[in-house]
Amino acid sequence: MNAGIIGIGKYVPEKVLTNHDLEKMMDTSDEWIRTRTGIEERRIADDSMDTSDLGFEAAKKAIENAGISPEEIDLILVATVTPDQPFPTVACMLQERLGAKKAAAMDISAACSGFMYGVATAKQFIESGAYKYVLIVGVEKLSKILNWKDRNTAVLFGDGAGAAVMGPVSEGRGVLAFELGADGTGGKHLYQDEYVIMNGREVFKFAVRQMGESCMNVLEKAGLTKEDVDFLIPHQANIRIMESARLRLDLPEEKMSKTIHKYGNTSAASIPISLVEEVEAGKIKDDDIVVMVGFGGGLTWGSIVMRWGR
Ligand code: COA
Repeated sequence: MNAGIIGIGKYVPEKVLTNHDLEKMMDTSDEWIRTRTGIEERRIADDSMDTSDLGFEAAKKAIENAGISPEEIDLILVATVTPDQPFPTVACMLQERLGAKKAAAMDISAACSGFMYGVATAKQFIESGAYKYVLIVGVEKLSKILNWKDRNTAVLFGDGAGAAVMGPVSEGRGVLAFELGADGTGGKHLYQDEYVIMNGREVFKFAVRQMGESCMNVLEKAGLTKEDVDFLIPHQANIRIMESARLRLDLPEEKMSKTIHKYGNTSAASIPISLVEEVEAGKIKDDDIVVMVGFGGGLTWGSIVMRWGR
């Protein structure tokens, strides 16, 4: 039995915070942010919405898109580092609000790699026959843990949610291989004290090395080569890091997802948000080979390769 993505949904808050808005809040410039990161604007959730509210909106759409009912979901995995509170988990909050009565629920804490960890975990439960449908939500309200006086971090991140329902798919389709990894020795380069603290240069070096490596490793695991890849969805952290992964796979620009200019780095939400946008734009079609790759705090990384379609 192959596990694959059978439904997707996203939600981003309405409020747009542009680079020009940030110029009024701190010593930065639209030119610096655009050229160094590729970000032009990001979405910020107001006080009426916490992480679970963002995740709920994306989850509802993914379940509807999958054509199943919430009662059929066996497991809810929420990838987030900005939960409403330490416990109960966001996954349990969604279990109640969605009416997913039989679902087990837990949060996954793997920072920006969280959605990749979620997909790999869901695959195990489905392919072992233990569960049929798993809901995975990547969601962050990073704005609540940013120091709005720190230009090194505040300009990079945004809020949002992306969700996917995974379940059995036809032969040959679904998640073909995954790679997950961690290097705790790099934890000091990106962490939360009260706010997000980051050594940008160290994270940048790690990301460039690991994104490319992980793409190649996961393809090898699936018995594929870079020539087989139809589309790449990299974690949207910095356009220069994303470009390094694209060039490693020798892909033309139009075959890489780019949503960073609109949303900034939404951590665990960035890959599923991008997936929704590319599928809706018709850029990912049935039987396309799609690579998704992320990295983040921990330090962690993760990649998957899938043949798209149910
Ligand atoms: N506006 C203006 N200047 C800024 C700035 C901002 N928002 N942020 C930093 N600077 C300044 C720095 O203070 C530094 O000034 P200095 O040379 O006088 O000390 C200068 O810009 C250059 O800094 P540097 O770190 O060399 O820039 P960079 O080209 O490496 O870009 C990042 C910085 C943060 C964009 C880049 O390192 C990066 O993207 N790193 C990875 C971060 C990441 O992906 N994090 C999320 C992981 S999931």
